[in-house]
Amino acid sequence: MVDIRRVFVIGAGLMGSGISQVCAQAGYRVWMGDISQDALNRAMKNISWSIQKFIEKGRLSESVETIMGRITPVINDYDVVSQADLVIEAVFEKLELKQEVFRRIDELAPPHCIIATNTSAICVTELAAVTKRSDKVLGLHFFSPVPMMEAVEVIRAMTTSDETFRIGEAFVRSIGKEPILVWKDIPGFIINRINLPSTVEAMRLVEAGVATVEDIDKGLRLATGRRMGIFETGDMVGLDVTYDALLSIYEKTKDPRWYPPEILRKKVLLGHLGKKTGQGWYVYDSNGNRLGPSRYYV
Ligand SMILES: NC(=O)c1ccc[n+]([C@@H]2O[C@H](COP(=O)([O-])OP(=O)(O)OC[C@H]3O[C@@H](n4cnc5c(N)ncnc54)[C@H](O)[C@@H]3O)[C@@H](O)[C@H]2O)c1
Repeated sequence: MVDIRRVFVIGAGLMGSGISQVCAQAGYRVWMGDISQDALNRAMKNISWSIQKFIEKGRLSESVETIMGRITPVINDYDVVSQADLVIEAVFEKLELKQEVFRRIDELAPPHCIIATNTSAICVTELAAVTKRSDKVLGLHFFSPVPMMEAVEVIRAMTTSDETFRIGEAFVRSIGKEPILVWKDIPGFIINRINLPSTVEAMRLVEAGVATVEDIDKGLRLATGRRMGIFETGDMVGLDVTYDALLSIYEKTKDPRWYPPEILRKKVLLGHLGKKTGQGWYVYDSNGNRLGPSRYYV
């Protein structure tokens, strides 16, 4: 078995920063790469804030400095991949971009290094296919917010070896999460496959004027015991992320169930991507506090 000590996370957005954080909390040496200095600065700030909150709640015993000291932000530099035992890719949900990143990592990473993708819905096998180590590629699908959510889907691509699958499972446990094993690389894996259709249905209800975003969220919280409504979750995840995930499942299956509703497409075109842009299904102030519903419903 590969002894994983050093992890390179590519993409320091919502997911990459959360993944870097939980790896550093578990004692791993982490490099966090991005093409944007702003994204890296934001990620370091958010991680440090989140670690502080965990310490205040008594859930972490190490100091912020100790944990942050394990994370090195790197801008536009893939060379450190040569020191990694595990790479976790968390760039935008675009097949060509992910394939380009996978090709570069494959060239630079040491032969034992495992390459994982955090894709929401892209076929892991299509990423494995552009490498010369397809047996060492798998999906590690984290959920948002990463420091809070306890499950991680471990996805077996058509080419993933038994050993890589086992290492992925063991790695997930080592960072204090529960692995959910996905034995076949199908579009949407398990959780999105179940959750996304209800998300689409909720959007269609709003589109048809049947109910408001707020009432649907309230109903889901109060009637189904969810901690957050569908639209509240959608704003945290990012409307662009949901749109790209739906489109990529639709392109694979050609099943109209997965076709993104027009309301979602328009919101994405308007740049209403959720909390990260200050407006999605709801509007937020600069500190991320929710002010009220967005008035652009239809
Ligand atoms: N948002 C969610 O809740 C969620 C949940 C599970 C999986 N995912 C998946 O995780 C991935 C990332 O999602 P996110 O929400 O963190 O996106 P995000 O937009 O917050 O962050 C993506 C980051 O990737 C960086 N990036 C783009 N090209 C790059 C490159 N070539 N090299 C290095 N960095 C690059 C961007 O600058 C950005 O900071 C996507 O595949 C998404 O589908 C997202």
